Amino acid sequence: MDAVALLVADHNRVRGLVARYEDAHDSGDLDEAAKLVAKIVEELEVHMAIEEEVFYPAIHELKDEIGESVDEGIEEHHVAKVLIKELGSLQPTDESWVAKVTVLIESVEHHVDEEEEELFPRVRRASNAAWLKVLAGKLGSKKKALGAPVLADKIDMPKSELEALARAQKIPGRSSMDQEQLAATVSPR
Ligand SMILES: [Fe+2]
Ligand SMILES: [Fe+2]
Repeated sequence: MDAVALLVADHNRVRGLVARYEDAHDSGDLDEAAKLVAKIVEELEVHMAIEEEVFYPAIHELKDEIGESVDEGIEEHHVAKVLIKELGSLQPTDESWVAKVTVLIESVEHHVDEEEEELFPRVRRASNAAWLKVLAGKLGSKKKALGAPVLADKIDMPKSELEALARAQKIPGRSSMDQEQLAATVSPR
């Protein structure tokens, strides 16, 4: 598992949570919707921290165009943080809660799509497999330090169990994932 694959796994775990939030919202289950938003926020906070403290600084100097994408990424993270902070002072029953959640989801979707379609391919072209693997180790250590689950916590789970979790967690692309990708993507809880 390299650094880019680790970050994509985080993105897909959040996409699963978003799909589940949308289902809960559509069926009017406010408690479940609020729980899922709290999980989305928790995931985003760890993901933004490992990108900002480990990944972005490591890739910034690889190429000018990468540096520019990183600077844009940091501003997009800032927008997400502002929305998360504002959500923190609202109740799920407040009139603007759903609208703010929707805007947070839309801005995060835009950001992760841009990372996957533009930034990550550029990083792969400008670096190499060994370097990206070392960087994955650093991202994992940072995650662990933040108290978040890491690949090592899940890699020994049977594939059938990982597949069941991925299904329940609505992880996109799960049917074409191998054991390692599934383990990196699912949440153990
Ligand atoms: Fe990001
Ligand atoms: Fe990301």
